[in-house]
Amino acid sequence: MPAMDFRCLRCLCLAMCVADGLAPPRWQRLATGAIQPSGWLKTQMQLQAAALTSHLPLFWDNVQNTSWLGGNADNVGGIHESTPYWLNGAVPLAVQLQDEALLRTVEKYMDGILDRQTQEGWLGPDTDRSDFWSRYPFLMAMVQHHEALRPGARRKRIEEAALRFFAAVRQRLQGGVPLTSWSSFRAHDLIWTIHYFLDALQGSAASTTLQDLAALAEHLHSHGFDWNGLWFNSSNFAKEAVIKTSMETHGVNNAQAVKHGIVWARQSGNATEGWAETWLAWEQLQRYHGQPHGAFGADEHLAGRTPSRGTELCVVVESMWSLALASQLAPGDEEAVLALDALESLAFNALPGSLSEDLWSHPYLQFANSYQAVSNEPDHVWANDGPQAAMYGLAPNYECCTANFHQGYPKFAGSLFFEDGKQQELVSALWAPSVVNATVGLAHVELRTSYPFNTSVEYWIQNEKPFTLKIRLPKFLRTVTPAPVTVLLDGHSVKAEAVSGFLRLPIPVAARRLAVKISFAMAPSVNGYPDQGVSVYFGPLLLALDLREQRQLVQRYAFNAADWNTTATLPWRLAMPPSPHLGTPRFVAPGPRPMASNNCPVTLEATLLAVPSSAWPVRHGAPGPVNGTCRGGEQVQRTFIPYACTSIRVSALPLAGGEPVLV
Ligand SMILES: *[C@@H]1O[C@H](CO)[C@@H](O)[C@H](O)[C@H]1NC(C)=O
Ligand SMILES: *[C@@H]1O[C@H](CO)[C@@H](O)[C@H](O)[C@H]1NC(C)=O
Ligand SMILES: *[C@@H]1O[C@H](CO)[C@@H](O)[C@H](O)[C@H]1NC(C)=O
Ligand SMILES: *[C@@H]1O[C@H](CO)[C@@H](O)[C@H](O)[C@H]1NC(C)=O
Ligand SMILES: *[C@@H]1O[C@H](CO)[C@@H](O)[C@H](O)[C@H]1NC(C)=O
Ligand SMILES: *[C@@H]1O[C@H](CO)[C@@H](O)[C@H](O)[C@H]1NC(C)=O
Ligand SMILES: *[C@@H]1O[C@H](CO)[C@@H](O)[C@H](O)[C@H]1NC(C)=O
Repeated sequence: MPAMDFRCLRCLCLAMCVADGLAPPRWQRLATGAIQPSGWLKTQMQLQAAALTSHLPLFWDNVQNTSWLGGNADNVGGIHESTPYWLNGAVPLAVQLQDEALLRTVEKYMDGILDRQTQEGWLGPDTDRSDFWSRYPFLMAMVQHHEALRPGARRKRIEEAALRFFAAVRQRLQGGVPLTSWSSFRAHDLIWTIHYFLDALQGSAASTTLQDLAALAEHLHSHGFDWNGLWFNSSNFAKEAVIKTSMETHGVNNAQAVKHGIVWARQSGNATEGWAETWLAWEQLQRYHGQPHGAFGADEHLAGRTPSRGTELCVVVESMWSLALASQLAPGDEEAVLALDALESLAFNALPGSLSEDLWSHPYLQFANSYQAVSNEPDHVWANDGPQAAMYGLAPNYECCTANFHQGYPKFAGSLFFEDGKQQELVSALWAPSVVNATVGLAHVELRTSYPFNTSVEYWIQNEKPFTLKIRLPKFLRTVTPAPVTVLLDGHSVKAEAVSGFLRLPIPVAARRLAVKISFAMAPSVNGYPDQGVSVYFGPLLLALDLREQRQLVQRYAFNAADWNTTATLPWRLAMPPSPHLGTPRFVAPGPRPMASNNCPVTLEATLLAVPSSAWPVRHGAPGPVNGTCRGGEQVQRTFIPYACTSIRVSALPLAGGEPVLV
């Protein structure tokens, strides 16, 4: 790799020269821990911490005996990703919950791994000199740990370890070790961490060190797979379920690649171009593979829109992280809201829809439509995964998601707020119960709400300096103008109009806490897709037929870890009448298991039409295509609950009397 001058490089990429370092992000991330969950989100994250996040180091070979600490495990397929994946979620979770025991555990792992850093600077096991990839999630864990620490010896140690590691990567690449496979297709995850340290060390590290970092990022970008040119913006992109598989058809690779353009934009200096690439990627994935739960069909490889095809849990959490970065780094508000809409849908639908209500088990694949999730399905509808892929369990089909799902909620919580230091704006990007200590306004803000399980949000604000509270309205509130919201500032009604998706409220310095209260209407809506049937949404929530699922124990592991068969006790063959007959949604406060199927925060009664089994046959253990137009059928009263509360469900229904719907 030629030693490149950072400034020249930037001047080549840019018409103008940005003074120093990378182009500043439009919004700044708040350091891990500055946003803490409360309410139902805290409950959900505490369940996660109490379940697998805390217990994997106690009984799961890949984390307990990881090769990262000299053990014999965590080498599956010759790569070493489990412990890094786990740390990438466990670090922020421990910090956000202020969970001292978990924090001690993750620090023990971090310290142990840094203690073993080689002379060369390498981190982790070194069985394949070109396996850069397994380190990417570990570097992300280091970033989040670094963010959470006060200046001091621990923080310094992380900086030094990261610099030595980046130097080792650079040496290997210069020495001819190729950038291939996962390491190439996922290169922008590493670039993001390099950029983080470039920002963090601006002003303290030698300028040659910073130039080396920028040159390494440039090498990774130019030698890594060209996602935009060779895939998303080319005739190669798969427009239906793929048959011939490759690295670029791989679902998780695609989810990670959504960040490709927007991450690189900080170094190219062109956020418009970076956004165009990132958004084109997400739009392509949605157009040809989008599923009602917000993710895209990828049962290992891109799987199309058919709602009985699956989506891997890793696809969900990696999409969420890509979209969080896309919103933060977007060139403007109009773009940022789009990424946030997509992130919100995943966080409230696809993520909880792929975790058991106690967060002790997950399936490898979730399905918009399924009537069972059982072990050992030799005749299955998905193409590339094994017979356990639908079952809820400890590590069904493959262990990556057991290790990787931990980042879902913590990174979501970390994306609820952003800051715009230049405008002195605190951006409330997503509504979920939380508390934030912001830099702008030196503000302490409590966001009290049960949203999406309620129709009001309240901000309780204490601040030392004036600032602007900039609040994103979710998509369902932006489709009507003026938005059907009422805003009270300190008890007084204020006229607040959304501009490019955001309300802006100037917050003065007051002697006491100020309250901003926003209430709004939320009504169920029925959305149809020609190739997917119709789905019922309630605000950001996808609703699904409650099948009164039951589970049977298949195998128990240590603690509460187990594999389960889940089956339906109510019929699943139901169609939506041509003019839907929906009741009024009912709310109950989220309970100790917020996503419990038998104690769900939202229920909706509906009159549906039974479909005969001849018209909706089973194909390969799943709801098959609907045969002909389903007319007539007997009327049946049934209940919809959030998709989030179900493990198996029908969330894309045929429309009776309509066109034949392929399901
Ligand atoms: C905010 O700061 C206060 C006072 O330093 C601290 O007690 C609290 O834990 C912080 N909260 C968050 C969300 O960081
Ligand atoms: C981890 O290694 C120890 C020591 O070899 C062994 O006793 C234990 O069973 C291993 N854990 C798992 C989950 O295999
Ligand atoms: C950014 O990229 C776009 C599209 O490639 C291009 O039209 C525009 O001129 C670029 N802007 C700058 C400042 O280079
Ligand atoms: C995709 O390719 C077309 C045709 O070459 C080009 O006009 C467009 O700007 C490209 N879009 C992105 C996001 O690269
Ligand atoms: C789970 O489902 C599989 C496939 O239908 C079946 O073979 C097995 O017996 C079931 N186990 C239990 C405990 O229900
Ligand atoms: C919804 O929020 C309102 C106002 O905060 C509260 O009075 C009500 O109890 C909440 N409802 C539920 C079901 O949580
Ligand atoms: C549709 O139903 C008809 C009549 O019941 C049957 O003959 C035909 O095989 C079915 N087609 C499919 C694709 O299941």
